[in-house]
Amino acid sequence: MSDVNITIIDRDGVSHTIPAPTDMAMSLMEIVRAYELVPEGTIGICGGMAMCASCQCYILSEDIPLPEMLPDEEMMLDEAYNVKPNSRLGCQIPVTEELEGLIVELAPEV
Ligand code: FES
Repeated sequence: MSDVNITIIDRDGVSHTIPAPTDMAMSLMEIVRAYELVPEGTIGICGGMAMCASCQCYILSEDIPLPEMLPDEEMMLDEAYNVKPNSRLGCQIPVTEELEGLIVELAPEV
């Protein structure tokens, strides 16, 4: 089992650096849920289908390679609130070894 360390700033501005497993096919959204960094029911509402934007986060680290945005994610972010140039949907980012050191901030609840 191999973990990467990810720093997630929650919606109250509290920073959590947590180990995230790379071998369990989890997304960044699922990590936030697993660690209960936000109240239940406020993230992952669509089940990770890029259809709700409840998992929106801001990518604060610039040197971490992330997967390209697919059309579904792009379309959802076009319609979402509080979108910034560094917005991504956490459900569309699988936890892989490349994410070591990633820093993200969760977007406000909508
Ligand atoms: S969980 Fe719904 S868009 Fe990510």
